[in-house]
Amino acid sequence: MFCGMSHSSVTPSVAELTDLTGKVALVTGGAQGIGLGIVRRLHEVGANVVIADINKETAEQAAAEFTADRVKAVVGDVSNADDAAAIVRATVEAFGGLDILVNNAGIFPGAAFVDVDPEVARRTFEVNLLGVLVVSQAAARQLVEQGRGGRIITVNSVESVNPSVLGLGHYSASKHGVHGLIKTMALELAPHGITVNNVCPGGTLTPGLTGLLDDDTIAAIAAQNPLGRLAEADDIARAALFLASDLGSYLTGTQIVVDGGRTLRGAMY
Ligand SMILES: NC(=O)c1ccc[n+]([C@@H]2O[C@H](COP(=O)([O-])OP(=O)(O)OC[C@H]3O[C@@H](n4cnc5c(N)ncnc54)[C@H](O)[C@@H]3O)[C@@H](O)[C@H]2O)c1
Repeated sequence: MFCGMSHSSVTPSVAELTDLTGKVALVTGGAQGIGLGIVRRLHEVGANVVIADINKETAEQAAAEFTADRVKAVVGDVSNADDAAAIVRATVEAFGGLDILVNNAGIFPGAAFVDVDPEVARRTFEVNLLGVLVVSQAAARQLVEQGRGGRIITVNSVESVNPSVLGLGHYSASKHGVHGLIKTMALELAPHGITVNNVCPGGTLTPGLTGLLDDDTIAAIAAQNPLGRLAEADDIARAALFLASDLGSYLTGTQIVVDGGRTLRGAMY
């Protein structure tokens, strides 16, 4: 049982608070980037982890980094409700239950508002917003049935707060939607001891980002950041670990912005 469900008079140590031995975590989009960073940290503190990704090859490569008895790869598209249910079922079959869902799968195709193809916008909403809804729904049903609480963490974005660059209006809308969604999820799931929170990265060096931007643009983004660099995947994974563990026992319905102070500077033109 997570500490969020009951209050103990004994103050646990930090090591106890972050010990996830025997917990079961499901990380969508866990084959690379931020998702894989989160898989590594959850594995390190003892959780058994399922990597659910649309890309079979990279998912299996990522899982091969770990022993098969602790990390498994499952293939699925988070925007498809049947796949979402199957991913959760596969997790329960692999490790006997579910404790922590990390909704991390996401896409960020760029296009100016006046140019964006509605089909690109639709796919962005489907993966980034509907995907969070259907995977969280399947996971929540399992968590409620188990009756031992749980954690739902979504890797959202600073774009859910304010634009940081131009050309991501559709993406920004999907991420604002996630912020709206988790507030009601948090209220409805609180009676079951399930907390629901977001981590909001700023620019983070992942295959998804470095495949989109050239070195000069990345250097310009780093120069705009108060801390003078983009995030590494592990900077985001540390905040996700905080929310997944009992360090984050009393947070629900909220977002943690992990952007090196970037949102203080407004949109970059
Ligand atoms: N990298 C950044 O700068 C940044 C900033 C803010 C927020 N984010 C968010 O972080 C999350 C991860 O981003 P990243 O940079 O690591 O991306 P990435 O492209 O490097 O990795 C994303 C992973 O998700 C998988 N995926 C994509 N669509 C999927 C689907 N429909 N179903 C299942 N899996 C799918 C991909 O195969 C890939 O393994 C996303 O939600 C993104 O919006 C990233």
